[in-house]
Amino acid sequence: MNSRSATEPALLSLLDRASQTALHAYAPYSGFRVGSALRLTGGEVVTGTNVENVSYGLTICAERAAVMRAVAEFGPEIRIEAVAVANLNGASSPPCGACLQVLSEFILPDAPVIFSIQDGERVVAFRKLLPLVFEMKAK
Ligand code: THU
Repeated sequence: MNSRSATEPALLSLLDRASQTALHAYAPYSGFRVGSALRLTGGEVVTGTNVENVSYGLTICAERAAVMRAVAEFGPEIRIEAVAVANLNGASSPPCGACLQVLSEFILPDAPVIFSIQDGERVVAFRKLLPLVFEMKAK
């Protein structure tokens, strides 16, 4: 866990935006309310929440909702320099695997990902959460 004083203020305020956004989550089936905030390299902040569906499988996570919105508002060539994820349930939850793959399309590998944990927050570089990204290019 990062102590509050050691975490960059700009990242903490991004996490606050994520927490505020989680209040708007549509999660009547799981009750798990998530908010995400992305900071783009131009300084823009874009938020998203999870939006569940009665089919369950059509649910979209907060992080992917934020990415879709960021592309629609500032794309197509967006670059994400920081990600925040918060939930209102007290769980220690970094982005799920599907969200990491979608983020990988646009994120700087060293971008910090900040997420709430039970009694604070944790910061992990994106490349540590998803070290091997699926790609189609030969390297
Ligand atoms: N969820 C997210 O919003 N982000 C994640 O990274 C994982 C899970 C949502 C989907 C669903 O609405 C609820 O959390 C429970 O899985």
